[in-house]
Formats: sequence, C-alpha cells, structure tokens
Amino acid sequence: MTVSTNNILVTGGAGFIGSNFVLHWLAQRGGQLINLDVLSYAGNPENLASLRDDRRYKLVHGDICDASLVNTVLREHRPSAIVHFAAESHVDRSIADPGAFIRTNVQGTFTLLEQAKQYWLTLDDAGRKSFRFLHVSTDEVYGSLGPQDAAFCETTAYAPNSPYAASKAASDHLVRAYHHTFGLPVLTTNCSNNYGPFQFPEKLIPLMILNALEGKPLPVYGDGGNVRDWLFVEDHCSAIRTVLDRGRVGQTYNIGGNSERKNLDVVTAICDIVDELRPDAALTPRRRLIQFVKDRPGHDRRYAIDASKIEHELGWKPTEQFEDGLRKTVAWYLEHAGWVESVRTGAYLEWIRQNYEQRTSR
Ligand code: NAD
Ligand code: TYD
Repeated sequence: MTVSTNNILVTGGAGFIGSNFVLHWLAQRGGQLINLDVLSYAGNPENLASLRDDRRYKLVHGDICDASLVNTVLREHRPSAIVHFAAESHVDRSIADPGAFIRTNVQGTFTLLEQAKQYWLTLDDAGRKSFRFLHVSTDEVYGSLGPQDAAFCETTAYAPNSPYAASKAASDHLVRAYHHTFGLPVLTTNCSNNYGPFQFPEKLIPLMILNALEGKPLPVYGDGGNVRDWLFVEDHCSAIRTVLDRGRVGQTYNIGGNSERKNLDVVTAICDIVDELRPDAALTPRRRLIQFVKDRPGHDRRYAIDASKIEHELGWKPTEQFEDGLRKTVAWYLEHAGWVESVRTGAYLEWIRQNYEQRTSR
C-alpha cells in the first residue's frame, strides 16, 4: 500500500500548539490534514473555524486511546506522517489528577504507536522509508536546573519531577523503543514553554493577561523566582515542520527560545503592556495586583534549553524576541474577547476555584 504524499494525521490539533500548527501547515502545504482530537476541556474546534470550508481539513472527534478508531483513521486516510500533540498538558492538573495523564500521555501514546506500527508495516518500501512519526514533547522531562547549571541538551539524563513530566518521559521512552525495536521512523522534539494565541487561560501567560485586564489578583507561586525559557508558538510550529522535513530518523531535537525569564518578570511585563493597551485609572499600575501565593508542590526551579543541535544540523532558529511576542500575545487576547468567553465555561471556572482557593497566601 502506498502512502498519500503530504497527507498528515495530527493528534490534539484543537489544542493550543496543535491548532497553531494546523493553521500554519494548511497555509503553506498541500495535501489533506486529519485532526484526531477528543476535544477535552483544552480542545476547542472554534480555533479552527476558519477551516470550516477547507476540503483539505477533517476533524475526527475521538480518543487516541481507542485502538480501533486509530486503526480505522490510519487505513482510511493513509497519512505519510503523524504529528502527535495530543496530551494532558497542565502540571497543576497533573498534581490534582495524575491518572488522566497516565491514560492519555502514556496509554494513548502507546496505542498510537502500536497502530502506527501496524499501519506502517502494510506500506510498500518507499512508503515505509518516507513515513514519519513525530512525537511532540517537553523540556520538563529533564527535571530542574540550578542557577548556574548548563542548559538541557539532548543527552541530559531524564529526571522528571511532576506527574505530567513523568508521563511525557514515559511516552518519549516508548517512542524511542518503537524505533529501536521495530524500526518505526520516529522523531522526538523536546520544547520549552510556549506562549501565543489560543493558549488555554489556565497557563501562566494567558491567565495573567486576563486577570490583569479584569483587575483580578495575579497569583505568583512561591517567590516568583522560578525560571522558564519561553518560545513563541509559531516558532515551535516552524521547528516541528523543520524536524519533520529534515530531521534524522530516531533522533531527538531540543527546541527553545533563548529567552529565560523569571516568572515575576514575565508577570510585571504583562502588567505594563496591559496598562499601556488598556489604560484604566482604577487599576493602573496593575503590578499592584500581584499576590505571592502558596507554591506548587515539587515546583521545578529553572528550565533552560540548549538548542544548538537543531540549529547546526537543520538550520532552525527562533525568530521572535520574547518582548515582541509577549506584546503580540497580549494584544491577541485583548482583541479576542469572544474566544476568551467561549473557553471560560463552567468546567474552567471550577478548575480556577479548585486550584486557587487553597493558595490564598504564601
Ligand atoms: P493543550 O492542552 O492545549 O491541548 C491538548 C490537545 O489534546 C487538546 O486539543 C485535547 O482535546 C487533545 N487531547 C487530550 N487528550 C486526548 C486524547 N485522549 N485523545 C485525543 N486528543 C486528546 O496542549 P498544548 O499546550 O497544545 O501541548 C501540545 C503538546 O505539546 C503536548 O504533547 C505537550 O506535552 C507538548 N508541549 C507543550 C508545551 C507548552 O508550553 N504548552 C511545551 C512543550 C511541549
Ligand atoms: P505553566 O504555564 O503552568 O507552565 P509549566 O508549569 O509547564 O512551566 O507555569 C509557568 C510557570 O508559572 C511555572 O513556574 C508555574 C508558574 N505559575 C504561577 O506562578 N502562577 C500561576 O497561576 C500559574 C498557572 C503558573
């Protein structure tokens, strides 16, 4: 059986990074794109409303843990690549309910790999050679760095600390094993914290933008000195396309933004941009809304990415400066009040209550 060149299967394409990826992919490439997404609280088909009349795009509403559904999708659409985003992705939720993370991130990735392998074995020689399974993972699998430690590189030992990170680490190992044992042509990317349009407002940057806009408290965990490396989501999408096109089979690539920032600095920068774009005498300066709250258990202190492998081997570098990307992101949330309204449903409000009620003070 031959594969249909340029047809790809994306999992989790209605989430934050997935929907940015789908929109950019279809703006640039031909072929069909199938999006397999269970539409969890984090999946929003409205992100892809602009594709409603695009015959190249198809949403399959379903679960990556459903082996027979995955099998049917692969046989019907015969993709030449799978780009696997689907996951439970929020660390605080993984502390509240680790089981959901084991199910989707570990069992779901295993199911997808097993079905991908069976499908891949039915392809002809050329199809088997060109097929790719790209697994989208995180820098959190490497654990936490001290202030002077060298950044994570691809050979850094795995040391995941949260249930989220541990479930992603397990999925990375399964992906590696399917290559090593069965020869499935896999690629893995480990990326730092993304920000940009369509991010669900449970994560730091969109949560702070919306709270600052509405004059609500800005809950900074611990002392606000935890450091993350931030990458604009479009840069992540271009890195994934680069790895898919030119990455060496079986390799992993670290992706980062060269933008390490302390959380407190990110939050104050957001306050200043919101003050400028939405001046409000009653709220300005919004920095006054910052509240230091009880820390996240096991909170990793610092992440930093050494992305020299992808740069030297594949010629990819981030293009967006953090301060510019942050300004664009704030502007996007201010201009998309309808989107914000649509994702802040009852389930969202319940999560915010549950997560922040017990953090009232440090
Ligand atoms: P997200 O939570 O915004 O979206 C996840 C998507 O997966 C949603 O559309 C959801 O409906 C879907 N999904 C969840 N469970 C599913 C299941 N069982 N079957 C099918 N679909 C399911 O996540 P995101 O931030 O876009 O992250 C996407 C991927 O990138 C994840 O694998 C994550 O680990 C990885 N990643 C994220 C970041 C980040 O900063 N957000 C950084 C590095 C890596
Ligand atoms: P988050 O966006 O949840 O990403 P991750 O935990 O995957 O890095 O959090 C980013 C950082 O911001 C992390 O150090 C935790 C911190 N944080 C807060 O201080 N307050 C908040 O309300 C949230 C959601 C996160």
